[in-house]
Amino acid sequence: MDTQFFYDLLGENACLYTCGTLVVLWILVWLYRDSLEIEGIPDKYVFVTGCDSGFGNLLCRKLDRRGFHVLAGCLTEKGADDLKRAVGPNLKTVLLNVTNEESIQKAMEWAKKEVGEKGLWGIVNNAGSSLPMGPSEWMKVEDFQRTLKVNMNGVIAMTMAFLPLIKKARGRIVNVASVLGRVAANGGGYCISKFAVEGFSDCLRRDLHYFGINVCIIEPGFFKTAVTSLDPLERELHRLWNQLSPEVKATYGDKYLDKYIKVQRLIMNAVCDSDLSKVTNCMEHALTAAHPRSRYSAGWDAKLLWIPLSYMPACVVDIGLKLVLPRPSKCA
Ligand SMILES: *[C@@H]1O[C@H](CO)[C@@H](O)[C@H](O)[C@H]1NC(C)=O
Repeated sequence: MDTQFFYDLLGENACLYTCGTLVVLWILVWLYRDSLEIEGIPDKYVFVTGCDSGFGNLLCRKLDRRGFHVLAGCLTEKGADDLKRAVGPNLKTVLLNVTNEESIQKAMEWAKKEVGEKGLWGIVNNAGSSLPMGPSEWMKVEDFQRTLKVNMNGVIAMTMAFLPLIKKARGRIVNVASVLGRVAANGGGYCISKFAVEGFSDCLRRDLHYFGINVCIIEPGFFKTAVTSLDPLERELHRLWNQLSPEVKATYGDKYLDKYIKVQRLIMNAVCDSDLSKVTNCMEHALTAAHPRSRYSAGWDAKLLWIPLSYMPACVVDIGLKLVLPRPSKCA
């Protein structure tokens, strides 16, 4: 059969048909490869941080049901007790404060005993905090650092402490970033910390793949969790406002804070998704797929708004935010 035969058969659109077929084949192969799963889940241990509530809490329940040995790091006794009661005897909890080197070391020693010779199949760096968020000028350096300590230093410190256990199992590191690690839409430490998680995770993946270790980044859109809870965010905005000098306050004007809070409520209520399983499904895939992806975006707002925005020129987001957010009263 020569090419002339195909041309006769398909007509002048031969090239189009061939390309189309190749694309469809590529998608089918990709979907098949993406659906392959690992074996031996009942022998594997996974450590999750930030399990008191939100994604971490739900993930522990799901991983337990899948048959993993789940080691859950909780910040509070109450969080740990509630989770243990809800899940059952297979799941084990440990008190963990990711901003405290000693606490991390203790949790690691405990996990090392639990996993024994098997090593640790997965660590999910999920613990995070969003407080405070607000206009950049309102922040003191400590305000930035408060978020960075948890979301950036915490992820780095946990990863470095647990890496020997992961290496032993040729396991997985799953880091929770955010769409705000792709588009910096908010002042304060949160976006900075999530950009840091993206960079740290990309470096890790490129450095560790030689050892059979996979590094996955989860990029959730806006979900109803403690991170997007309005009460603490608004309380912090009031605190930030109150720490401003009268001169700075005057440049924003009396009404600015109220307007800002109103816009934030409107946005959060409109976009926050309460189906946290969209995120935990991504985490589960990262831990159970034979070929985990480098990045997972979770939620419609992530897929349709934030990730596409992240590929656009900066001025698109600049203009969008300018249209949405209030204006300080004394602009140049
Ligand atoms: C976590 O550890 C830091 C640093 O030691 C400490 O300042 C903070 O109060 C701790 N947080 C909790 C909730 O225990």
